[in-house]
Amino acid sequence: MTFDPFPADPLADPAATAAAHPGLRHAPATARNREPIRTALAELLPAGDCCVLEIASGSGEHALWMARCLPQVRWMPSEATSEGLAAVQAWRALCPELATRVLPPVLIDAARPPWPGVSVDAVFAANLTHIAPWSATLGLVAGAAARLRAGGLLLIYGPFNEADGFTGPGNAAFDADLRMRNPEWGLRDRAAVDAEASRHGLVALPARVMPADNRLLIYRRT
Ligand SMILES: C[S@@+](CC[C@H](N)C(=O)[O-])C[C@H]1O[C@@H](n2cnc3c(N)ncnc32)[C@H](O)[C@@H]1O
Repeated sequence: MTFDPFPADPLADPAATAAAHPGLRHAPATARNREPIRTALAELLPAGDCCVLEIASGSGEHALWMARCLPQVRWMPSEATSEGLAAVQAWRALCPELATRVLPPVLIDAARPPWPGVSVDAVFAANLTHIAPWSATLGLVAGAAARLRAGGLLLIYGPFNEADGFTGPGNAAFDADLRMRNPEWGLRDRAAVDAEASRHGLVALPARVMPADNRLLIYRRT
């Protein structure tokens, strides 16, 4: 196999793209979970033009993949720090054909709602709730409720505990590791997120079971 330092499609093999661009942030998990997430979003988002605000975009790889695969979507990435914004911007610059539908990332700290801006059809966050203090989840729910149009969706992807505890042995080990790294981190109980959503006028729809013991929590603004 030959090594292509400037792949024509930067999203085809994100690891190769990252290898060719030193300093580019790359989250290997996004290449594994982007298709299951894309499939769910394709079923859940409106078929016509719609606007999705992403909280905690990380590398920005989800933003670009979803915008490419879901042509009706305008994706608004965000991050909590200026370094985070630069990381998203670096990936965005590699895909100029998506520049009109993946907007420049904006600074949003999930834990500090309300976040100023226009109403959106959906708020999406992946892998935030367990790698941030609980205040980030509280803020995510409150902030989303304030930005969603009536009928809009809050979609939260990641590992969550169900009533009977961890959904798999991998998640138990992951939780222990997270709590060792930061005592304020850790997997959240889905029921606790549901309760918080309900306080903000968001109705819980059945959560989707996703690969690798993940969930997609789905809430609709009344
Ligand atoms: C594990 S990464 C997930 C990134 C991306 N969503 C993904 O799935 O690859 C967690 C991200 O949450 C962001 N983050 C942590 N606390 C945050 C907060 N209070 N508000 C917004 N983003 C936050 C971090 O900067 C980091 O990019």
